[in-house]
Amino acid sequence: MCGICAYQGPETKAVEIVIEALKRLEYRGYDSWGIAYKPAHLDQNKPQEIEIYKEVGKIGDFKSSYDQFGKSSFAIGHSRWATHGGVTKRNAHPHISENKEIVLVHNGIFENYLNFKKYLEKKAHTFKTETDTEVIAHLIEEHYKTHSFEDSVKLAVKEIEGRYAILVINNKDNTMIAARKGSPLIIGVGKSKGEYFIASDIPAFLPYTNKVVYLDDNQMVIVENQKIRFFDNSTQQAIEKRIIEIDWDIESAEKGDFDHFMLKEIMEQKDTLSRSINQDPITINKVARAIENAHGTYLVGCGTAGKVCMVAEYLFAKIAHKHINFSFGSEFPYHQQFINNKTLLIAVSQSGETADTLEALEVAQKKGAKIISIVNVEGSTMARMSDIVIPIKAGPEKAVASTKATTSQLAILTMLAYACDGGVEKGKQLLIATAGQINDMLNPRYENHIRKLARKIRKIESMYIIGRGANFPMALEAAIKLQEVSYIHAEGFAGGELKHGPIALISEGTPVIALVPNDETTKEIISNATEIKARGGYIIGVSSENHPVFDYWIRVPDTGATSPIINIIPIQILAYQLAVLRKNNPDMPRNLAKSVTVK
Ligand code: M6R
Repeated sequence: MCGICAYQGPETKAVEIVIEALKRLEYRGYDSWGIAYKPAHLDQNKPQEIEIYKEVGKIGDFKSSYDQFGKSSFAIGHSRWATHGGVTKRNAHPHISENKEIVLVHNGIFENYLNFKKYLEKKAHTFKTETDTEVIAHLIEEHYKTHSFEDSVKLAVKEIEGRYAILVINNKDNTMIAARKGSPLIIGVGKSKGEYFIASDIPAFLPYTNKVVYLDDNQMVIVENQKIRFFDNSTQQAIEKRIIEIDWDIESAEKGDFDHFMLKEIMEQKDTLSRSINQDPITINKVARAIENAHGTYLVGCGTAGKVCMVAEYLFAKIAHKHINFSFGSEFPYHQQFINNKTLLIAVSQSGETADTLEALEVAQKKGAKIISIVNVEGSTMARMSDIVIPIKAGPEKAVASTKATTSQLAILTMLAYACDGGVEKGKQLLIATAGQINDMLNPRYENHIRKLARKIRKIESMYIIGRGANFPMALEAAIKLQEVSYIHAEGFAGGELKHGPIALISEGTPVIALVPNDETTKEIISNATEIKARGGYIIGVSSENHPVFDYWIRVPDTGATSPIINIIPIQILAYQLAVLRKNNPDMPRNLAKSVTVK
């Protein structure tokens, strides 16, 4: 959700570097974009007008030559996902202050911006946009009348309420200042002397460097005179930060020969499961002990990660005979009466930056609870807030619809359930076997079989998915996958719930996907499918065996307790195929963002 990137260094193609970096952040979701830069031919130490260029729509549509911008060694960029004010060129970032001295990009929400807007209007500031961001630029300029640039930014960040990441430049010198609270900012340390990148996510600058510094909440970075300094806004002290070398390579963050990231990431599940279960046994046993000793464990996640937590609730009950609570991140604060210093919160997240889940962590932290996170993005905010981190190790996931991170999260939680039962090795063996089955399953013939179904149902308006036990949350997840990228109305239900209401929605030809594992739910879910068929429903069975009730059979291997992992994969493929047939962009579905950093 919104992307920031900036370059300062010896290269004279800063604009190109920043626009290309914005393209690599496209997966975050956005509706407009813009850059600000200082032309290199000007005397950098004299006040100068900063050039600004903005567009509505996709950066991929920007076909002009970079020559129009001339040479520059200093540029910032932003991709905007509209919150305050419509999707217009004017509302796109960067925003500029009254006297054009301050230019700024911003992710997040300046919650108390209206108070400051009124205050600044009284001081003769005029606003050209409806955005909260423009107010920050004016606010900094107001301080700049009596303070240094750095102090002006420091004063402003004290005044901003809400979660944000800002990046500010001025017209007098080549200082860049970035500050964060609740929205990610990472500094890339380039290979040349004095070369720095600032971005919301690592892939933005991955072609140039894998040396990074993670900015924490209430921290600020100042890039000036070819050096960087860090400052803690809560203690008002200068701080030292560690440079970390990450092991992502650019290929893992690119599409390669695939048409879309979503398909690439679905196919990567041939390997990702094995990678994710390759965990330090000491950490796994430590987490199992923490679950044993906790007076109440909450699994917390949002969207797909939330559905994974719901599956885990069933797995812990069945495998470890252990009751674990579940809450969506956004609902967790309403449970806080039950949280204390003996509670354990396990956060599940691909990005580690989801605002609602982060809020749950903050609530739990305040109550003294122990926090464990299962996250994909190394060094993310959640990881850094946690007592123990289990890395998902799925590699960068760029398509908005989560696929490989989902199955890896499920694998880790399955392994944890076995660890709680004292059988971590048994769980691992089962998952290794499952990984092998996924490898066999993901072949072109399988894709074709699902594409055939996608062609058959591509024009339908609604579809339903049913499951029982651990496959009930997977039915909910299947619905999310189909909604997100195909835009078909899809809903998941517990098989037994249909007759309590939703069965009224079934008419002749309504497609219903039944998740039919070979376990204690088989007989009942088949009988639910039969009830639907009797009302005209078209039954698509995801199962290791063909049942007479199925109108279309999608075969999956029988992997026992890992059926939620196996069963979701064909639905991911179906959702992808439907998106393509319906001419939707599966990587960047409308209205959605990869990382939901606003509440
Ligand atoms: O990064 P997270 O796993 O915390 O994200 C949580 C949800 O926003 C995410 O799973 C969302 O539901 C996906 N787009 C689903 O495919």
